Amino acid sequence: MKYVTLNNGVKMPILGLGTFRSKDEDAYNATLHALKCGYRHIDTAWIYGNEKAVGKAIKDSGLNREDLFITTKLWNTHQGYESALKAMEESLDNLGLDYIDLYLIHWHKSYEKSIESYRALVKLYKDKKTRAIGVSNFNIHHLMNIVDNFDIAPMVNQVETHIELQNHILNDYCTENKIQLEAYAPLMSQDISKLLNNEVMIKIAAKHKKSVPQIAIKWLIERNIVVIPKSINNSRIESNFDVFDFNLSEEDMLEIRKLNKGNKIFPEFDNVEF
Ligand SMILES: NC(=O)c1ccc[n+]([C@@H]2O[C@H](COP(=O)([O-])OP(=O)(O)OC[C@H]3O[C@@H](n4cnc5c(N)ncnc54)[C@H](OP(=O)(O)O)[C@@H]3O)[C@@H](O)[C@H]2O)c1
Repeated sequence: MKYVTLNNGVKMPILGLGTFRSKDEDAYNATLHALKCGYRHIDTAWIYGNEKAVGKAIKDSGLNREDLFITTKLWNTHQGYESALKAMEESLDNLGLDYIDLYLIHWHKSYEKSIESYRALVKLYKDKKTRAIGVSNFNIHHLMNIVDNFDIAPMVNQVETHIELQNHILNDYCTENKIQLEAYAPLMSQDISKLLNNEVMIKIAAKHKKSVPQIAIKWLIERNIVVIPKSINNSRIESNFDVFDFNLSEEDMLEIRKLNKGNKIFPEFDNVEF
């Protein structure tokens, strides 16, 4: 496993399991199977409704807590100072954990809400309820609001990133400000057929004797971007993790770069109505 080091020195596995739309038994089985296969990083969120199932799988895995990296997220309706502090307690209780590894503001709602919520995250970080804090669905202008107002910069920004939405400029800004970019929907989520049928990706996958999803995941790892593909299927959980025995060439990377279209599957961050 490859790790990235966050701006506070915490090490984060570059590859983890996503759990969006994984419900109850599926979330439990997928998390447990992933942990058996060698995953040490699980991404959940209060709004996914599966924190309890993920927490039970963590417990049943028998792994040492300090070897795991668990992310959860502050939901939009819980934004604000006091409500964020309370929301963290609920997530910890759901997960059955004393602390989490990364707590993210799930979506930008307003500049004011971001400030209030981030103030709570800083307190939670200082109180050691979470080893790292960050944001999700933030563009450069949303990040600047935090960077300009706090001594502690976000450690991570989790955003939709895949072959059709490559986020080069956002990633450059994040790198300059020591904010780790993390890719959600790396397999294009519900539009995965666009990825699986992409001819350039099919050609590169055949060359490396790998699958298209494996190339999509490795391309992000080569860019030093944390990646959290979701699956509830055991063999796909395994194959998504089997990406450390080959490297993409510079030519492969350039070919994939040309696939960027700025195509978003999830809402534009300034337009969320939930
Ligand atoms: N911060 C945010 O706002 C936000 C938003 C979206 C997602 N996320 C996080 O990012 C994670 C990943 O994003 P995502 O779940 O939207 O999409 P994704 O990981 O890009 O794609 C998941 C889809 O791909 C399928 N799949 C997985 N591996 C496959 C493989 N090897 N071959 C063929 N199909 C495969 C899955 O089906 P099966 O399960 O049947 O394999 C599922 O339908 C989420 O689970 C969540 O943890 C965060």
